[in-house]
Amino acid sequence: MFGKPTIVSQLRGFTDHHSHILFGVDDGVKTLEVSLKVLQRYEEIGIAEVWCTPHIMEDVPNTTESLRAHFAELKAAYNGPIRLHLAAEYMMDQLFEERLEKNDLLPLGEEGNHLLVETSYFTPPMDLQGILKRIKSKGYFPVLAHPERYIYMDKDYYSNLKNMGVLFQLNLSSLAGAYGEDALRCAKWLLKRHFYNLAGSDLHSLRNLDFWNAKVNLSNII
Ligand SMILES: [Fe+2]
Repeated sequence: MFGKPTIVSQLRGFTDHHSHILFGVDDGVKTLEVSLKVLQRYEEIGIAEVWCTPHIMEDVPNTTESLRAHFAELKAAYNGPIRLHLAAEYMMDQLFEERLEKNDLLPLGEEGNHLLVETSYFTPPMDLQGILKRIKSKGYFPVLAHPERYIYMDKDYYSNLKNMGVLFQLNLSSLAGAYGEDALRCAKWLLKRHFYNLAGSDLHSLRNLDFWNAKVNLSNII
């Protein structure tokens, strides 16, 4: 492994497009204090921007308003240089369909026209193709969170999603083996084919940062 840089050494100026550092709203960071600790560590690393992307799903039915209120609290408490943004990670379930229909959404990206979406790790949602079409018909680009983690997807599946215009978001820790050998192999395969469009931490706790000491060359993706 000699010669390869650590993940953490390559993140100066990086934009984290997927994180659960907004405290107290999902299975991520629990307190404002820890949110601020993560941001302090991010400052030391040189990360420039962070998208807070809390879960929204039938089991975690955060409302847009409540997330905005929590995010305002975080922003008020944080005085550092990192630019903070709010979006969400949407499970493509019935609740998502309702929010999409009402245009009650927290999109990802400066242009406000991307949606970070996920599915179960084990099975695809019913009518995935239809959901993706509805996302696009509302004027949004779907960004699939951590495609390397879905065990039901194979190479053809990824190619089909790409052909349908789905963007892919890499979890950096996948390349450090944080989700096991299969996800690591899959992430390498997707990287080699330039299938990833953006990257994120998917950070849920400070401990997740330990994986960034792994030696991985990120020049293909960030
Ligand atoms: Fe996530």
